Amino acid sequence: MIYKIRKICCIGAGYVGGPTMAVIADKCPQIDITVVDINKERIEAWNDSDLSKLPIYEPGLDEIIKRCRNRNLEFSTNIKESIAKADMIFISVNTPTKKKGFGAGQAVDLKWVEASARQVGEYARGKTIIVEKSTLPVRTAETIKNILQSVNKNNKSSKYFSVLSNPEFLSEGTAIKDLENPDRVLIGGEDIEAIEALEEIYLNWIDKSKVLRTNLWSSELSKLTANAFLAQRISSINAMSALCEATGANVNEVAEAIGLDKRIGKNFLKAGPGFGGSCFKKDIMNLIYICNLYGLHEVSNYWQKVVDINNWQQHRISSKIIRSLFGTVNEKKLGIYGFSFKANTNDTRESPAIQICTDLLEEGANLHIYDPKVTSIQIQNELKIKHSENLDYCGKWTYEKNYIDAAKDADAIVIITEWDEFKRFNWHEISNIMRSPSWIFDTRCILDPKDLEKLSTNLWQLGTSNKD
Ligand code: UDX
Repeated sequence: MIYKIRKICCIGAGYVGGPTMAVIADKCPQIDITVVDINKERIEAWNDSDLSKLPIYEPGLDEIIKRCRNRNLEFSTNIKESIAKADMIFISVNTPTKKKGFGAGQAVDLKWVEASARQVGEYARGKTIIVEKSTLPVRTAETIKNILQSVNKNNKSSKYFSVLSNPEFLSEGTAIKDLENPDRVLIGGEDIEAIEALEEIYLNWIDKSKVLRTNLWSSELSKLTANAFLAQRISSINAMSALCEATGANVNEVAEAIGLDKRIGKNFLKAGPGFGGSCFKKDIMNLIYICNLYGLHEVSNYWQKVVDINNWQQHRISSKIIRSLFGTVNEKKLGIYGFSFKANTNDTRESPAIQICTDLLEEGANLHIYDPKVTSIQIQNELKIKHSENLDYCGKWTYEKNYIDAAKDADAIVIITEWDEFKRFNWHEISNIMRSPSWIFDTRCILDPKDLEKLSTNLWQLGTSNKD
């Protein structure tokens, strides 16, 4: 008989916990779900009657929240009570890279995972299934089990815990679509009853053929491996983009040609300013740390190169811009179009815009940044320089609410994010109001060179043989 789940608690109301629980609540009206977080403001934002104030922007999320909130989905700071009532607890807390101490810059800081496990150990009652949703280093489930066992021993109570790994593969911007129609659902664990209980939830909307069962460690490692492989594809095509520029080839044509080979496939072959986002770099650094821990230095060096190429690509773009503008950008106005790490999200974590803008600021540039979703405060936090602040030996940046102001009298426009609206901009007008000779640096190849042919501005597109 399948162990029926009636109450779920999810610890962590972030990019993974929020949308994932919203979709489970939507598809399983028979299950009551509480998403808890220690961050009071975040919970208040999830509970805001104005749906435009939700802490995360994801197409379709507001509609689901509207349907499910106050029905079978609740957001709360009452962690103790929610854990005590739950049959199943998802751990979706953040797992940042350590900034200090052993493994700084590589290892994951498991402080929030450990804190969650301790709370579960203390407050849970009866049989409770713990599901790891956060991306975690291999064998974290062991740590969680150890904590649960020791808390249990101290309390001498009759609690019973089962730990499963169920990594989330959603991408930002398409989270709801990915959750409603995933390529696969991966469940790692040993306790068949617990695995079936979790599978039963997914079967409410996902075909059984998409559910893959593995052991705990394979499941944990699969998530890191998937992200490492995806990032590696981007570094591979970005490495080729430099060779294309040098040889007269076109990286988009090369990508199309190789993508038609079914073994390679056409997805994730878009050259650009390098991967950003909260996962890729963090997960590869973690993989590198784990490999070194097991003495697999050749393997860790291999993955390190994927990150190195990514950093190099960003410096390569900055250097190309400076060289094109007669070797100096000092006190020159440059319009920056796009600051988020990819289109359709306001997330700026690890965005390539940060490195490129920092390089240009260090060369004294006067940046005018426009992004349809990113706020001035976010940019300030990422660049660590205040809006309009003029530091010694450094340029300054200004936040622009419209793209025309960012372009007026500028020597160059740098397109860093592939926002759709940029394609529809009036490039004729932009070109006319810039200072000659002007440049457009299209690091995402979103513009059609034919449309810009008659304009007086120079166009450089990443990975193509542009005139210098
Ligand atoms: C990624 C994984 O795709 C997802 O499965 C995992 O759960 C979390 O990490 P996300 O960070 O939301 O998702 O973004 P994704 O769409 O994968 O893009 C990552 C970065 O790669 C972006 O900066 C994007 O611009 C870049 N990218 C992606 C390219 O430069 N070229 C491509 O072809 C694809």
